[in-house]
Amino acid sequence: MALPSWTSNRSLAGCASGNVTDFHRLPGWEIGIVGENAARDEKEEISLLGTAVESAMNEQIRNELFSAYQYLSMAAYCESENLPGFAQWMRAQSREETEHAMKFYDFILERNGRVVLQEIDGPVVEFGSPLEVFEQALEHERKVTAMIHDLYGLAVSENDYASQTFLQWFVSEQVEEEKNAGDVVETLKMVGDKSEALFLLDRELGQRRVEAQGSG
Ligand code: FEO
Repeated sequence: MALPSWTSNRSLAGCASGNVTDFHRLPGWEIGIVGENAARDEKEEISLLGTAVESAMNEQIRNELFSAYQYLSMAAYCESENLPGFAQWMRAQSREETEHAMKFYDFILERNGRVVLQEIDGPVVEFGSPLEVFEQALEHERKVTAMIHDLYGLAVSENDYASQTFLQWFVSEQVEEEKNAGDVVETLKMVGDKSEALFLLDRELGQRRVEAQGSG
């Protein structure tokens, strides 16, 4: 049987399994479906992310969005303690985390991968003091650093050079993230229970704005 020039072996295989045996009798709409299937198969075929890296990056989208949720919860606590500057700092951090999640989201798409969003756990909502808030923030960032390093290690073991380059931005970013939270922890320890110093620190932290993130 002579085949139209636009057909491929792949699309013919799809027709055989879909009970279409005579290509010349296909109505136009069925040909359209065959074409769509072929296009979808082609897209799957050229995915440039390995399954393990794609899965781990989808997991990291969830981790970054959880971070955003956690920082927003910390912002709410700070608001309840009449510390609007602390709350502003946490809001800015929350927005940054959403940007981090979107970097992974967009990178997966650029590599013709599939973004699959996952369930996000609830955040911690009660804290004993501003110092405890920032201590937990620092602890959280250390965990995220470990996640990024694991992800980088996976990209290395998979010989995925593009993902390694992408992840290098996050490796550097985590150094800054830990430093930012750590600096506030140290300052709060010096402030102790001095309310005037806490007031001044609140004003200083309130200056923070969301910075433009690198290209990643
Ligand atoms: Fe996106 Fe704070 O790590």
